Amino acid sequence: MAIIGRADAGFTFRITILLLFFICVPCLPLYSLDKRNDRPIIGVLSQEVNSPKPNQRAYIAASYVKFLESAGARVVPVMINQTLEEYKTLFNSINGILYPGGGVSIISSGYERAAKIFYELAIEANRRGDYFPVWGTCLGFEELTYLTSGKIILSRTNTSGVPLPLNFTNETKDSRMFKGFPAELMKDLASEPLTENSHKWSLAVLTLNTNEELKKFYKVLSTNTDGKTEFVSTVEAYDYPIYGTQWHPEKNAFEWTRPYIPHSPSAVKTTAYMAEFFVSEARKNLHRFESEEEESKALIYNYSPVYTGPTSGFVQIYFF
Ligand SMILES: *[C@@H]1O[C@H](CO)[C@@H](O)[C@H](O)[C@H]1NC(C)=O
Ligand SMILES: *[C@@H]1O[C@H](CO)[C@@H](O)[C@H](O)[C@H]1NC(C)=O
Ligand SMILES: *[C@@H]1O[C@H](CO)[C@@H](O)[C@H](O)[C@H]1NC(C)=O
Ligand SMILES: *[C@@H]1O[C@H](CO)[C@@H](O)[C@H](O)[C@H]1NC(C)=O
Repeated sequence: MAIIGRADAGFTFRITILLLFFICVPCLPLYSLDKRNDRPIIGVLSQEVNSPKPNQRAYIAASYVKFLESAGARVVPVMINQTLEEYKTLFNSINGILYPGGGVSIISSGYERAAKIFYELAIEANRRGDYFPVWGTCLGFEELTYLTSGKIILSRTNTSGVPLPLNFTNETKDSRMFKGFPAELMKDLASEPLTENSHKWSLAVLTLNTNEELKKFYKVLSTNTDGKTEFVSTVEAYDYPIYGTQWHPEKNAFEWTRPYIPHSPSAVKTTAYMAEFFVSEARKNLHRFESEEEESKALIYNYSPVYTGPTSGFVQIYFF
């Protein structure tokens, strides 16, 4: 029995390889299908504090960390101002990276410099078949539009603090991102204001449609409007595991200091399914730290979040 089992497995494997060769060569980069990393570690990019203090020069809102942890990942803070060599070593140690929202420059900040280095390393790695996912939320999404197009092409919109339903495109049903979402939740996302927007700049649909780089790179999965400008709200790259949302999937379950953040059961499920999707992407990456000691030293557990709720848009913040 065992021998037949193995022979069958070998045969299935050969067929799979054959099919992959024909089906997948033009789509996503190949990655090792028989290995899954059940101990994914995801980098979360920090950014400059507006008015820095001695031990508070950079920060990460804790909700991004909780978002990833809730779906089975551990987090490493990616500090700004590191050397290229340090970033390369870190890139080869982690299984994905998240660019959070925030308020720094997308063309000239420590956040931008690190985001650009990791973006380029990710593109290069994915081309070699080393599957490395990248996620941008809000400012992170805006950063991605700059990194992909090389241009600042955002439009001013009236979207500071408003929950919206997603206007799904026809591409959504074939997307990797929403494939695992229950039909009921997709219905709620399309009809109820479950996605929180806190941005003054947006990628107008018209701009995307007239920018060749962006148009051929990103599949638009949803749009929204502020009543005047229709803007892109969710994307996934056609040929790379690169994802962006102009809205905040992490806030529904983990942020409480603004009245416009939705907390309904479907809103909280949205946080869970988005986190599950991105962490499942990171499980496809097999990078690891050189030693357990290096891993322990890098993890976010070495820092304690500070309770900032009463005075901030974030309940808890990690300061560096
Ligand atoms: C990053 O470098 C800039 C310029 O040298 C410096 O002003 C800033 O304090 C540094 N920030 C951190 C978090 O190291
Ligand atoms: C911006 O949008 C809000 C609703 O979200 C609306 O009340 C307000 O009038 C709008 N402001 C402008 C300048 O259009
Ligand atoms: C949804 O998107 C379509 C296609 O871009 C557009 O025609 C429609 O007006 C949008 N609907 C809403 C409610 O924004
Ligand atoms: C989306 O699909 C519907 C139904 O097939 C079609 O009527 C509509 O024109 C499509 N919209 C776009 C923007 O392609």
